[in-house]
Amino acid sequence: MSERVAIVTGAARGIGLATTRLFLEEGVRVAMVDRDAPALREAAAGLDGVLALERDVSRPEDAVAIIAETVAAFGRIDHLVNNAGVADFGPIEETDFARWRRVMETNLDGVFLCSQAAFPALRKTRGTIVNIASISGLRASTLRVAYGTSKAGVIHLTQQQAVELGEYGIRANCVAPGPVRTKLAMAVHSPEIIAAYHDALPLNRYGSEEEIARAIVFLSSDKASFVTGQTLSVDGGFEATGIGLPALRPD
Ligand SMILES: NC(=O)c1ccc[n+]([C@@H]2O[C@H](COP(=O)([O-])OP(=O)(O)OC[C@H]3O[C@@H](n4cnc5c(N)ncnc54)[C@H](O)[C@@H]3O)[C@@H](O)[C@H]2O)c1
Repeated sequence: MSERVAIVTGAARGIGLATTRLFLEEGVRVAMVDRDAPALREAAAGLDGVLALERDVSRPEDAVAIIAETVAAFGRIDHLVNNAGVADFGPIEETDFARWRRVMETNLDGVFLCSQAAFPALRKTRGTIVNIASISGLRASTLRVAYGTSKAGVIHLTQQQAVELGEYGIRANCVAPGPVRTKLAMAVHSPEIIAAYHDALPLNRYGSEEEIARAIVFLSSDKASFVTGQTLSVDGGFEATGIGLPALRPD
């Protein structure tokens, strides 16, 4: 088993759980963070080398506790994966401040708070941060003024982290997933949206949690030792498509 230790937020299911499993396969111990206590207990049961932390990343005191409890249990932190997120699709005119804040407090504040708390430990290991954004942070779309803006903020925050923390050997990168059939996505993707996504994606399908996790673990690893400040879209080609008009396709 390697010495390395990762923190994965939003680890009770979906992309966070797949990332936890992949780190474990590589011998990395994992602090699994989630605010959904029953789901976290179920996910962590039977996994060797994990620490389950029932915490809410949007609360400043929880962010500090996540780092302290991980260092107390494992002695070090090498990789922080800020993956916890919430989705909300709604028209811009129906997005009031409470709705906006509910998305921002997890998706953007949570990334800021956990990262800030982790810097001293990451400086000791010359560690890494991978933040999970979305294709919605790269291309504006209807119904996601809060979600898309929160994810665009995550992409820029990642660049700030890379630029300011490079001198300590800390790397910060971003993964921007395309659609994956997780609980988060299925709560906001109607059958019509699913069909339209299939049509708009060059690879013609949703991605899997494991396909996103592989990019996260790669960017965390020494294989990406000269990569920092980047956003890697893992999206079936969605970002590469420009004017995707059906009328412009070959027969
Ligand atoms: N599934 C997709 O299609 C998709 C696409 C692009 C980006 N993403 C992003 O990937 C990340 C993971 O999403 P997923 O699809 O695996 O979702 P998911 O709902 O399956 O998992 C998210 C987990 O985060 C936890 N969580 C939410 N808010 C939290 C908080 N404040 N503190 C602690 N835990 C919290 C939830 O309890 C849940 O277990 C999110 O940031 C999401 O925005 C997902």
